[in-house]
Amino acid sequence: MSLKNNMNLDAKKILLNNDKGNYTIPTSGLYPFQWNWDSAFAAYGFAQFNIPRAWTELETLFSAQWLNGMVPHIIYHQIDEGYFPGPNIWRGNGPIPSSGITQPPVVASLMIKIWKIDTNFGNERIKELFPKVLKWHRWFMKWRFEEGFVYISHPWEAGRDNAPDWDKALAKINPSGLAPYKRRDTDHVNPLMRPTQSDYDRYIWLVQQGRDCKWNEDWLKNNSSFKVADPAMHFILLRANRDLRLIGLNLGEDISEIDSWISALEKGFCKLWNYSLASYDSFDLINKSFAGSISSASFMCWYGGVYDKRMLLHYDRIMKKVKYGMPSYDPESEKFDRKRYWRGPSWAIMNMLIGFGLQEVGEVERANLLRAQTKLAILENGFAEYFDPIDGSPAGGNTFTWTAAVWLGWAKGLGGKRNGFN
Ligand code: SER
Repeated sequence: MSLKNNMNLDAKKILLNNDKGNYTIPTSGLYPFQWNWDSAFAAYGFAQFNIPRAWTELETLFSAQWLNGMVPHIIYHQIDEGYFPGPNIWRGNGPIPSSGITQPPVVASLMIKIWKIDTNFGNERIKELFPKVLKWHRWFMKWRFEEGFVYISHPWEAGRDNAPDWDKALAKINPSGLAPYKRRDTDHVNPLMRPTQSDYDRYIWLVQQGRDCKWNEDWLKNNSSFKVADPAMHFILLRANRDLRLIGLNLGEDISEIDSWISALEKGFCKLWNYSLASYDSFDLINKSFAGSISSASFMCWYGGVYDKRMLLHYDRIMKKVKYGMPSYDPESEKFDRKRYWRGPSWAIMNMLIGFGLQEVGEVERANLLRAQTKLAILENGFAEYFDPIDGSPAGGNTFTWTAAVWLGWAKGLGGKRNGFN
């Protein structure tokens, strides 16, 4: 049996081992619950060999949707003391114990890919999910959209927890009155690969702030201590709306509301361009300043359908410095840290989304290079949570669901219908 076939089997085994029946955990120990965008990637991975299971994954995710439309970032289907913070710290308002914030809305864009693999099978399931995804996007436009920007209310909402994009905004927060707590992530993973204690204190302090107002979005819009516009969130939502529009058209739904969201987001993304950096950048809505960050989020413009050639200059510059995919932060910045979570490592999911974008705007060679580098990282070092972008060494958790899903759906590089480019 060839190495590649073995890898395909190993990837499937990871999904099956992390499968809890109707949802998938990212990896046991470090992340023992259902995570929002992890689950969407898991569904895309399952869709490569088990379409019904892929739909079930998305349905379970939406079973945790709050009345206001929010889909939480962590869903605690069961108790596990090995993770902090648990549901009693968050005190979410949904039908299932959950966190109080969301995560990047990749669902609609992966759902349309899953549906295209088997439209006959998917027709009924997508019809059921459409109004729920619509309600979630409506929540985003109401509660996470301001002055033309899509913003996050917590670094965990971006999914890029400790990206340098939030450093300046977090530094303004004084985490006084923080109840004592014990973080558990560093029991599972080398602390050098995780966020610092100072960042963690601020994450938990922001959770307390949201919990104390009972996750009242109206109050948070006016009073939250953290509101940062994130290019990844913006471009992901823009694309998700375009894909949701196509789904709606196919179902014969009225798509005028989605059209209005698309035009608002199309007007807004220009404001994320930081002229002094010559790059898309995160923008602090409270302190009215750019982060000064060229991160993997800056390259999501193509995925958002915006063929901005200016970002190709940074792309080529950065890709010359690495061998294992797009680093999560500019390797020429003094903040670059090749091992520490979202401050340098290469992430298979970001590579795939950036790769989809490059392919779609016609930058096929660059898309292929990114795919080849992602493939190499996984072939040489397995299904790690993330990789050192320079030597490929594995970092964070292992036997990771989304890395296995990216392998099956994109990185392994099979041609034909299931290669993720259709
Ligand atoms: N990524 C966060 C953690 O590390 C939660 O979403 O726990």
